[in-house]
Amino acid sequence: MSAVDQTSEKQRAGDPGSATCLEPAPGTSVWPDLLSRSAQDALLAELCGLIETAPLYVPTMPKSGRPFSASMTNLGTLGWVSDKNGYRYDAVHPVTGRAWPRIPDSLLHLWTDLTGYQAPPEACLLNYYSAGAKMGLHQDRDEKPLDAPVLSISLGDTAVFRLGGVERKGSTQSFKLASGDVMMLAGPSRLRFHGVDRILPGSSTLLAKAEFPANAGRVNLTLRRVTEP
Ligand code: SIN
Ligand code: MN
Repeated sequence: MSAVDQTSEKQRAGDPGSATCLEPAPGTSVWPDLLSRSAQDALLAELCGLIETAPLYVPTMPKSGRPFSASMTNLGTLGWVSDKNGYRYDAVHPVTGRAWPRIPDSLLHLWTDLTGYQAPPEACLLNYYSAGAKMGLHQDRDEKPLDAPVLSISLGDTAVFRLGGVERKGSTQSFKLASGDVMMLAGPSRLRFHGVDRILPGSSTLLAKAEFPANAGRVNLTLRRVTEP
């Protein structure tokens, strides 16, 4: 979404208090440019360290065994995984067998500030999209408490995001999610179908100088509560 860039320094550090919030559909909130460039740099630097413990890997689809075009890893006590046994949450990385690293405090604070949910997120799925990667239309429904929102943070190249309704068929809309944008799917939007049509290569310089495994592309983080509090 295009940012209305008249925010104060305080807002730019990720304070949602009086930041611009758009509502493309009931229950869908988008805060354009909520994270300042320095907050994005700091978060990415932290992620680079965590990815050394929990490397990106390419999951496969349950039935077809086809690889995802995005690569993934997770932070938190539980991580979302997909393989021939289906979609599920698991406490360990499927390649290393090690526990996922903890979710950075800055993300835990963002969750508290924006969702107001009674319990912290247990999972933070990290999706990495290189130039040709995308994600098909799907619902996030492997979590038990559906009253807990899903909170999404975009870093790096802009995504063309697609948002549908709660049925697979039906109309959809698309909008851009740029680096520093934060989106929440809550209430009537919690089970909306959504996906990523494509990313716009070269639209951000965020990953260029970072220690991230790739120096271009998009990182998306989704914070989720998986079990009933
Ligand atoms: C997801 O639905 O898991 C990711 C969406 C995104 O990359 O914006
Ligand atoms: Mn999703």
